[in-house]
Amino acid sequence: MATNDWTADRLPDQSGKTAVVTGANGGLGYRVTRELAARGATVAMACRSEERGERARRRVRAAFPDADLDLLTLDLADLDSVRAFAGAFREAHDDLHVLVNNAGVMHTPYRRTADGFELQFGVNHLGHFALTGLLLDRLAATDGTTRVVTVSSLLHGRGTLRLDTPDEESYDRYEAYAGSKLANLLFAYELQRRFEAADLDALSLAAHPGWAATGLQRAGPEMEGNRLRARLMDLGNALFAQSAARGALPILYAAAGSPVEGGAFYGPRGPGPLQYQGPPDRVTSNAKSHDRTAARQLWIASENLTGVRYDFEGAKEAERAAR
Ligand SMILES: NC(=O)c1ccc[n+]([C@@H]2O[C@H](COP(=O)([O-])OP(=O)(O)OC[C@H]3O[C@@H](n4cnc5c(N)ncnc54)[C@H](OP(=O)(O)O)[C@@H]3O)[C@@H](O)[C@H]2O)c1
Repeated sequence: MATNDWTADRLPDQSGKTAVVTGANGGLGYRVTRELAARGATVAMACRSEERGERARRRVRAAFPDADLDLLTLDLADLDSVRAFAGAFREAHDDLHVLVNNAGVMHTPYRRTADGFELQFGVNHLGHFALTGLLLDRLAATDGTTRVVTVSSLLHGRGTLRLDTPDEESYDRYEAYAGSKLANLLFAYELQRRFEAADLDALSLAAHPGWAATGLQRAGPEMEGNRLRARLMDLGNALFAQSAARGALPILYAAAGSPVEGGAFYGPRGPGPLQYQGPPDRVTSNAKSHDRTAARQLWIASENLTGVRYDFEGAKEAERAAR
């Protein structure tokens, strides 16, 4: 792609399009929601707190009074909630042009989800894996080329795929986050291969924001009441991060920019080799993220753990029936 100055102003009109954005109430998800809605998209804001979601919806509407925003509850740390969200979305919306798998937690103390998964792997990967599978036929039946964007991180590079649930003693919050972000990429690339194998008119893309000043860095320290660490995170943000608005650009580009290619990864170009900041561009990920054997293992484990099986044949049928 590569334009020096790509901003959200370059997005095409989104009227008639419907998007789901997870974690739409804060940080990057909020910026993605705002920009898509500003251009006419209907955005289903998938938020775990109705109150925080409503506050975010009001903020967007204060700037864009016509913004078409549907607020739906989604807790990715609870598969019952993921199923309920998918059901509520299907009832309220016929189309799904873009699914943005954005919500996430980072470096949290040891916690398990309602279904017993380690929290970071459960929320960042498994919840989104289940959500995407539950909305697959809706994506297929929607006119035009639909997109799934999964948000990963530069930290995928420190990740190792771990399919078992660690116990508290062996838990390392940094490894768990990096592993979950590696899983995001393995999933995004495998989904693209499966879209192609099923001949579906859909693209799976990945994106990362570099280092963006959001609530992410504070959330872990806050969960354990560690004020010093929370302050250090604020300092790190002040020194090294770009704004949430800028960090959201690679995600927005993947969601609605063009040209895009299925299986591509978008992130800040730099300056510098660290790629913490900069305009969105196509970027690379490490060799582990392209390991097809690991991707297949992750897929099978994710289906078994979540109980959500991707029905590509059914999705192709839905696509045919809708055309
Ligand atoms: N910021 C960065 O520098 C950076 C770098 C690399 C990758 N990322 C990725 O970017 C994505 C967005 O993060 P952010 O920086 O925007 O962080 P953020 O400001 O903390 O926002 C995270 C969002 O996810 C939601 N969320 C957390 N747990 C959830 C759950 N169980 N169910 C549903 N939603 C949940 C949060 O909801 P609440 O408000 O209710 O907590 C919030 O809306 C994440 O996937 C993160 O890994 C961020």
